[in-house]
Amino acid sequence: MFRTIKDLHLKHKKVLVRVDFNVPQKANGAIADDTRIKAALPTINYLRKQKCIVILMTHLGRPNGVDETLRLDSIAKHLSKLLNHHVTKCDDVIGSEVEEKVHSLKEGDVCLLENLRFYPEEEQNDDKFAHALADLAQIYINDAFSVSHRSHASVDAITHYLPSAAGFQLQKEIETIDKLLHNPKHPFIAIMGGVKVSDKIEVIRHLLKKVDAILIGGAMMYTFFKALGLETGTSKVEVDKLVIARQLLKQAHGKLILPLDCVIAKTPDDKGTVTHVTHLAKDVMGLDIGPDTVAIYQEILKNAKTVLWNGPMGMFEKKQFAKGTMALAETISKSKAVSIIGGGDTADAVKGFKFTHVSTGGGASLDFFAGKTLPGIKALEENVHCVKHRRFPSH
Ligand code: 3PG
Repeated sequence: MFRTIKDLHLKHKKVLVRVDFNVPQKANGAIADDTRIKAALPTINYLRKQKCIVILMTHLGRPNGVDETLRLDSIAKHLSKLLNHHVTKCDDVIGSEVEEKVHSLKEGDVCLLENLRFYPEEEQNDDKFAHALADLAQIYINDAFSVSHRSHASVDAITHYLPSAAGFQLQKEIETIDKLLHNPKHPFIAIMGGVKVSDKIEVIRHLLKKVDAILIGGAMMYTFFKALGLETGTSKVEVDKLVIARQLLKQAHGKLILPLDCVIAKTPDDKGTVTHVTHLAKDVMGLDIGPDTVAIYQEILKNAKTVLWNGPMGMFEKKQFAKGTMALAETISKSKAVSIIGGGDTADAVKGFKFTHVSTGGGASLDFFAGKTLPGIKALEENVHCVKHRRFPSH
């Protein structure tokens, strides 16, 4: 078990907090969805009340070195508004400019380092880079569930140099999902959608041992149909995953439920028409599950006691292909089932509906649902035992 923020003596300390402010932005830089920023507020506010100096660090996007479009200035501004307190923005991640700015901060102040991924050392889990980050503070808090599946310096190697613990957001995600999945009430139904089967192979394999059924939707259904020898038109198919798709169907012993009908069009900009999945023409693509499938899935979901959902049922960004996703979201939100939604696209697609837990993590929640130990969590757990053996820098 890892320590949590309340297990450490934090009063008057400099605290380095890994957050995940990897948020969508509009063309003018304004934040399009601040869910992840808001999720970090309880930890930031708690640290400020403890009279800590709060040093926040995050990545944004997947830059190759410094990328001017991925600087964090507008995020710092947005956070200042949410906190009603000025957030000092550093234009670098480590180095003298950062040290000076951190040095000038007073108790209760907050600063945000520049995009961690401007340094390749971040993704390389580089020890020296982690050490340089650690030198800025006395305590490390990981409050970024959604990046805890990455073995990166600010998530993993950093715990070699500072007493470490989980922030409120990370703690809540792990405890909630763990509790819900540990001893789920049956019928336990999983819904898997999205584009790629390849992202979901391990989670499907793991869940087949636990669930009563997995309802398949999204573009990934066409890889299964191709594997079954059906015509899939111009739908997205992962041809290198056909063997695995066949294996999964065999292993599932009927627990993998595939759609009966789908909504097709020549391009995503056209109006969709409904067809049986065995009747796809060569020049059309499937873009949503059809009404008969929705009705069958709704019937199954009405009796479910636990529902786990990752990946939309269709191209929900286009109104004409969002019906499948919306209909299932409505059914689940009106049911009494305990429902967990994996983050990323799914959370985006079902905004406005009520669920038991909507994770901030896309890839991280998939890995967690697949039963994997996340590197960020393992690092926090090891920090508890290694704290006596490692030399932490003194401040
Ligand atoms: C996410 O958006 O899922 C996290 O911020 C992790 O981002 P990454 O997939 O680029 O590591």
